[in-house]
Amino acid sequence: MRGLLTLKDLKEEKIIELIKYAEKLKRGFRISYPDKKIATLFFENSTRTQYSFQVALMNLGIKVVDFDTQLSSIAKGETLYDTVRTFEALGVDGVVIRHSKDEYFKELENIKIPIFNGGDGKANHPTQSLLDLMTIYEEFGKFKGLKCCIVGDISHSRVAHTNIEVMQRLGMEVYISGPEMFNDHCAPYLPLDEAIEKMDIIMLLRIQFERHQEKMNMTKEEYHEKYGMTYERMLKMKEKAIIMHPAPINRGVEIADSVAECEKSRIYKQMTNGVYIRMAVISDSLDGNL
Ligand code: NCD
Repeated sequence: MRGLLTLKDLKEEKIIELIKYAEKLKRGFRISYPDKKIATLFFENSTRTQYSFQVALMNLGIKVVDFDTQLSSIAKGETLYDTVRTFEALGVDGVVIRHSKDEYFKELENIKIPIFNGGDGKANHPTQSLLDLMTIYEEFGKFKGLKCCIVGDISHSRVAHTNIEVMQRLGMEVYISGPEMFNDHCAPYLPLDEAIEKMDIIMLLRIQFERHQEKMNMTKEEYHEKYGMTYERMLKMKEKAIIMHPAPINRGVEIADSVAECEKSRIYKQMTNGVYIRMAVISDSLDGNL
């Protein structure tokens, strides 16, 4: 299948190449595809991923076909496959899809146009990981040997699962932390206060209430105190260490309001980098390389 569905399909050299291409685009390099049309199909809520894909498409001179899942024939029982097949038949050159089902793209094997995965259930979020990696590369100029701890609702997080796999491949030391009920043992566990003092990167996650089967066994205030990035914890981080978060952020839960935009936070830089990473991925695919 064409496009970008999971980072597991990309070799380490290709990942670095995409980051370098995104950096070149960030420095002002422009390329344009005025005859192309790409549809965005978001079956789950999204602010950043959806609109940063749209801004990326606009920056590449590509026309955006904005699919409204509420007004579509999905409500009449049309399947995901038939919906995507329709866009292909309409002559659209690619689709961006976010869906709550893990690996929804396995149903789309007969689709020939590129598919750009904007997140599938708890499994993959390839462009989010690439923008995270770009932000880390800009900061440290390398991956090998860097220590990162991902904190929070690991078991329901496609961001955690995607990042852990790719970060380990790139030679980073990756740990997880947070409540035991969210620990799915996909990386070694570190108590938060130990992680705070030792890591180069602390990546916080939102609690994914919409994916929970069971109710969380603590209040948001208790979560903040035990597992949140408080101002006091931030002060204990290494001098050059940074704080990341894919957002949406819940101020006062996983991150204190005063920390969200502090000098260690790269949260808004991650969003900016997301536009360039998505431009790089789409452009590389339209050029026949992905
Ligand atoms: C994340 C997602 O949707 O997976 N956000 C994002 O894409 N920037 C994380 C989240 O929803 O908490």
